[in-house]
Amino acid sequence: MGYALSRRPTGLIIFLALQQFTGFQSLDVVPPVVKPPNKVTNNQNPPVLIVPGSAGNQLEAKIDKPSRVHWMCYKKTDDFFTLWIDLNMFMPIGFDCWVDNIRIVYNKTTRKISNPAGVTVRVPGFGQTYAVEFLDKNKLSGYFHDMVTHLINMGYVRDETVRAAPYDFRLAPNEQEEYFARVKKLVEDMYEQYQQPIYFLSHSLGSNFVLYFLNQQSPAWKDHFIKGFISLGAPWGGASKLLRVLASGDNLGIPLVSNIKIRKQQRMTSTNPWMLPFEVAWPANQTFISTPSFNYTNKDYERFFKDIDFGDGWFMWEDTRNLTASLPLPGVETYCFYGVGLPTPVTYIYDDHFPNADPIDYVYGDGDDTANSVSLGLCKRWIGKQAQPVHVKEFKALPHSEIVSNSEVIQIVQSILKGIYVEENSTSHKTD
Ligand SMILES: *[C@@H]1O[C@H](CO)[C@@H](O)[C@H](O)[C@H]1NC(C)=O
Ligand SMILES: *[C@@H]1O[C@H](CO)[C@@H](O)[C@H](O)[C@H]1NC(C)=O
Ligand SMILES: *[C@@H]1O[C@H](CO)[C@@H](O)[C@H](O)[C@H]1NC(C)=O
Ligand SMILES: *[C@@H]1O[C@H](CO)[C@@H](O)[C@H](O)[C@H]1NC(C)=O
Ligand SMILES: *[C@@H]1O[C@H](CO)[C@@H](O)[C@H](O)[C@H]1NC(C)=O
Repeated sequence: MGYALSRRPTGLIIFLALQQFTGFQSLDVVPPVVKPPNKVTNNQNPPVLIVPGSAGNQLEAKIDKPSRVHWMCYKKTDDFFTLWIDLNMFMPIGFDCWVDNIRIVYNKTTRKISNPAGVTVRVPGFGQTYAVEFLDKNKLSGYFHDMVTHLINMGYVRDETVRAAPYDFRLAPNEQEEYFARVKKLVEDMYEQYQQPIYFLSHSLGSNFVLYFLNQQSPAWKDHFIKGFISLGAPWGGASKLLRVLASGDNLGIPLVSNIKIRKQQRMTSTNPWMLPFEVAWPANQTFISTPSFNYTNKDYERFFKDIDFGDGWFMWEDTRNLTASLPLPGVETYCFYGVGLPTPVTYIYDDHFPNADPIDYVYGDGDDTANSVSLGLCKRWIGKQAQPVHVKEFKALPHSEIVSNSEVIQIVQSILKGIYVEENSTSHKTD
């Protein structure tokens, strides 16, 4: 007990992760400019399809709204503009405009999610890599850029043999029928074009999306089209952090935006309720939120949503709880890599101001600073349960958001793609 609220020093940022605001990288870690790719034509390595984590790709919006939250907000735009990442969210009034555009509307009757009236949202760059390499148009916030650059240097070609499948990360897989149909088609097209089965390469929530997708496909389809599944930092069983995010918000160091203010936006997604801790990962008596009047376990979500005054969240959780709760076998060769050894909150302790103020204390467990290792390591359960091998590797002290750009991880991914990956038992140490 008695841990200070520690924040990584951040400039303007970006992040990507489980919940809407996680794992910021400051501007001074922008990757170096690299030489333009030399097109190598006879790359024999299997094609790669990247699936990013939550908030790990750009979103665009076009608006023609009946009303606005503030007179300074735009009511109508002629064209699509960048909604994620939009620097306006860092400005006091801009933030309100931004939330009013990026929010979703949940209908309890139909159990469907829609955009607010007059807002059209689209995901740019499907089948290309730019929207996951950088999250903003000015290329300040690098995400998969280092990884893609290394693949290019080993002979991959952008938007050809390495591509990405960005998605609307506000919506859980039950609302993503069209997206998964496009992913399936893209896999088949890539197979057709390069005459080889493909690798999925995913981060964080993207891995949960891939698992859901694979579980929808027949074994024959997977045998034919999928060479393997490389997962980086997947919260297979959810993360306790999501309770804090939904209860009192978490700005993760964005300047000028309070936790409570950002909470408004963080409650407006169905991926956040989906990622509440699953029963499969934690003991039934594990407390995630402790207040003077109640200790909330994963049996208490209905009460939790009621007490935080977010009734729709309970319905969203019900809609999504079974999507991957049984941890279905991927049914393809799987590489499950994740960070361990970093203090990661398991229990958030609040005083009487719950849920309208930050936690006053934390109880830490093991994890990658964002996801808990009991959840990250659930893939161990697949070993020996399916015909295809499952390779699990833990990286000591490797934070959640850094796993996609860590040089050791990138080298290992390259060795898998080249077909020369050698599994070793010992836990690896962070090298950079
Ligand atoms: C929810 O959907 C139903 C059926 O389409 C509709 O009748 C109802 O007005 C919607 N509710 C809201 C709050 O929009
Ligand atoms: C939960 O229950 C198990 C046994 O049922 C016990 O060993 C453990 O100490 C309990 N944990 C907590 C946090 O109460
Ligand atoms: C919550 O759990 C803590 C630790 O087990 C315990 O000390 C406290 O009394 C519990 N609070 C309530 C309201 O049950
Ligand atoms: C999810 O699973 C639970 C427990 O097995 C079951 O009671 C519930 O009806 C399921 N929900 C949906 C929407 O299928
Ligand atoms: C690696 O792990 C496997 C299974 O845990 C074990 O059987 C084997 O002996 C280990 N090999 C080494 C070199 O430690």
